[in-house]
Amino acid sequence: MINLKRLFFRRKKKSDIKTPILDALYSYKKNPMTGFHIPGHNRGAAVLPKFIDLVGKDVFALDTTDEFDNLGTLHPATGAIKRAQKFAQDAFNSQRTFFLTGGSTIGNLAIALGATKPNSQILIGRNCHRSVLCGMVITGAEPNWLIPKKLDDWAIFGAVSASSVEKKLKENKNIALVWITNPTYEGVISDIKAISKVCKKYNVPLVVDEAHGSLWNFSDRLPQTALELGADATVNSLHKTGGSMVQSSMLHIAHNSLLDPDEVERALMMIHSTSPSMLFLASLDSARAYLNSKKGLELIDNAIDNALYFRDKAKNIKNVSVLSRKDQLNFDPTKIFIKVKGLSGIELEKILEDEFRVEVESASDEGILILSNIGGRKSEFDYLLDCFKKIASREYTKTTENVVKYTPLVDPEIIMTPRIAYFCEKEVVKKEEAIGRICSEIIALCPPGISVLLPGELIREEHLPYLTNFEKIEVVKN
Ligand SMILES: Cc1ncc(COP(=O)(O)O)c(C=O)c1O
Repeated sequence: MINLKRLFFRRKKKSDIKTPILDALYSYKKNPMTGFHIPGHNRGAAVLPKFIDLVGKDVFALDTTDEFDNLGTLHPATGAIKRAQKFAQDAFNSQRTFFLTGGSTIGNLAIALGATKPNSQILIGRNCHRSVLCGMVITGAEPNWLIPKKLDDWAIFGAVSASSVEKKLKENKNIALVWITNPTYEGVISDIKAISKVCKKYNVPLVVDEAHGSLWNFSDRLPQTALELGADATVNSLHKTGGSMVQSSMLHIAHNSLLDPDEVERALMMIHSTSPSMLFLASLDSARAYLNSKKGLELIDNAIDNALYFRDKAKNIKNVSVLSRKDQLNFDPTKIFIKVKGLSGIELEKILEDEFRVEVESASDEGILILSNIGGRKSEFDYLLDCFKKIASREYTKTTENVVKYTPLVDPEIIMTPRIAYFCEKEVVKKEEAIGRICSEIIALCPPGISVLLPGELIREEHLPYLTNFEKIEVVKN
């Protein structure tokens, strides 16, 4: 059902394209000062010509950092950067928005540092990205796991239920924060409205890792954002699907958040580079402006239309299955998880690459993930449909030999906290000898970056199929 309040908010929001950082960089390019500062290549004057030939002169003409040439600063935010972050705040309807030049990884680390304490208990969906866990190793907070629904037929995690969150909060009054990944890498959506209601009832902040939901804020045809649904903080990897440059992300603190934005900013200042790339910052400014414009809406509509078109045709190809609502889930339609009978995801990916020169987002045990992007074309989906028709018309028999399992649907057995295990005396042992020992490293294959094992967890036989790519494992010394 269309949410009228939301529709009105979105319509009102569509604005002229205002880009303070881009404007400042235009001026920097047109009116150069004589510079005696970093970066030492002086607008490309001292770069290997082959590199300039490859990427073009302007990349280096604009490769600079904050602080100089009236471009403003990132921490604290001043000048054009401050104005750009304010426009982003308005667009995302947040209390504070921070630009990140180290991806959502940096955002998650900053939230961990700014909002968790040593020994505080954090309720985390087990399908979280490894950066959330790195945050726990740094701060000494203890993960208390929420195991999302397992979609065994697809070998991926599904949604986290509000009732499982409530059960944990009722049982354990020491839980200081709830941290959910939404959507999952494959686009499955949890009921964040219900989860947020539960968190509010117990007065516990809710952080939502929305790295893969950067487009949602800009279209009524996509799910509502966690900020709209009551989360206290979110991260968005705009570089993943929002059209900004690789590594650029945003961290948002909600109005009336239980988190202190100043604490989060202080944490960001600890871990961010002190020389943020102006190109990355400009790309965030530009992506926000574009997505929030009429043209941006057209691009998102195009991504959704292509996805719906592809889904509709693909589901009718014999031997092909597409993860869809019939699997009893809500999902982001632009993320298409698909499988072919008789093939593992890894085999399917290889066939697409080797025979058809098609590169997909990722492959796992059962299927592959295809993204319908704002930059995608319908003709490309027609080509992909032809590829699937050809592949699916052949006979394949699934073998279990050499299968690398990716999404670890194994429940963890915690022996000690990640931080204690990480800083223990350690030794490296052969994988087979590691069974029964306590892991002391983060083992998470990327993508999707979901942990197979974490420091402090017991290594069991069930983990072995997920460790095909590892010969040795670092364990706590006996
Ligand atoms: C759920 C999730 N959160 C955070 C990250 C980290 O994002 P980034 O690559 O922007 O650092 C990823 C990366 O894949 C992710 O899947």
